[in-house]
Amino acid sequence: MADMTTVDRIVCDYGFPIYLYEEDVIARQVSILKEALPGFNIFYSIKTNPNKHICRYMSNQGLGADAASANEVMKAYEAGFDKKDILYSSPGKTAEDIINTLDKAVIIADSYNELAMINDLCAQQGKKAAVGLRINPNFTVTMGSAPEIAEGASSKFGVDEESLLDNKGFIETLQCVEIIGIHVYLRSQILDENVLYAYFKRIFELASTCITQMNWNLSFIDFGGGFGIPYTKGDSAINWQTLQLQMQELVDNQAIVAKDKIRLIIESGRFLVSEAGSFYTKIVDVKESRGQKFAIVHGGLNGFLRPSIMNIFRQISLNEASKPFEPLFSGLNAFEVSIPARQGEPLELVSVAGNLCTSTDLLAKDVYLPKPRIGDILCVNNAGAYSYTLSPYDFASHPRPREIYINDDKYIE
Ligand SMILES: Cc1ncc(COP(=O)(O)O)c(C=O)c1O
Repeated sequence: MADMTTVDRIVCDYGFPIYLYEEDVIARQVSILKEALPGFNIFYSIKTNPNKHICRYMSNQGLGADAASANEVMKAYEAGFDKKDILYSSPGKTAEDIINTLDKAVIIADSYNELAMINDLCAQQGKKAAVGLRINPNFTVTMGSAPEIAEGASSKFGVDEESLLDNKGFIETLQCVEIIGIHVYLRSQILDENVLYAYFKRIFELASTCITQMNWNLSFIDFGGGFGIPYTKGDSAINWQTLQLQMQELVDNQAIVAKDKIRLIIESGRFLVSEAGSFYTKIVDVKESRGQKFAIVHGGLNGFLRPSIMNIFRQISLNEASKPFEPLFSGLNAFEVSIPARQGEPLELVSVAGNLCTSTDLLAKDVYLPKPRIGDILCVNNAGAYSYTLSPYDFASHPRPREIYINDDKYIE
């Protein structure tokens, strides 16, 4: 977390609420992934945080871009990523999306209809497109708090693995598209290296099937990822050393990789940027209601939605609350609220609420904080991923939070 002198300087210049993103934390996370997965190309999932400075940093570090919309393709392009390093994957693309991105990204078709649409659009333009296909494999990673590999499930993403052979003939009739890659992504926030290893192993098997049975000349395999971060004290981080050894052995044993020089791609968002972000706001009122103390801040649910979602889940049922519903909900206690300038002072029980006309606007319910005072600066951690980008900041027409990128002692909006 940035030191309070820097935070004070920034909030003095820009006001509240505000997101701060720290480049040195992103740099640390990028090097962890690069070291743990040496044979792999890392693609940054722009949806996690499309901030232009973050995208530019990722491109300067030699990462690729995982874009989830035509607009994200444009953002990636503007941030300096090459066409070959931008994969555009999302369900429900329109003809306009395809036309606008054909020359700027490698499109990952999400269905057979979409493959046909890309083929028709290319035929009209006298082009041939090298595309990927997203596959919903015959296994999944469960959504419980301790994920496991399980049987394939139905999904709105991609095409089912078992439908591939039936559609082989159809795919071969498409003269203007060639499938050069496959893409799989099953879930986020995996912290167990053994599950990650088993997941990667299964995708290598799937890629093998695509090469041998579908006769695809693959030049990339996009494994997705799902690398998690420890949100709460009970979470243990991925053991990167173990994963690195497992992955090295796995890759070394892949005949198809050595033979065909296939690019191995992983996508990551949360792991790269979540811990680099903090959300700061100011306490504007303090009140008590029937024994409960409230600190009122600006930019609660509308500035940073996910902590409030956490409190909504808390009310629904503990059973439900233990499951991550990504990317909206990572589990209980994923975000810590603090008053950094007053660390060490006696604590009292407080709820931190925003200034919206809904009681679900709660950044923190019943947490221990130093006795809150009007004017205190309040900080929420883990605000780099799915935070600014996933918050309904137009609700009640309050001003949007600003976003500031910090590089050493310099900061820019
Ligand atoms: C297709 C795809 N790739 C990558 C990501 C990024 O996942 P994470 O933030 O867990 O790294 C997501 C997240 O939803 C996704 O849907």
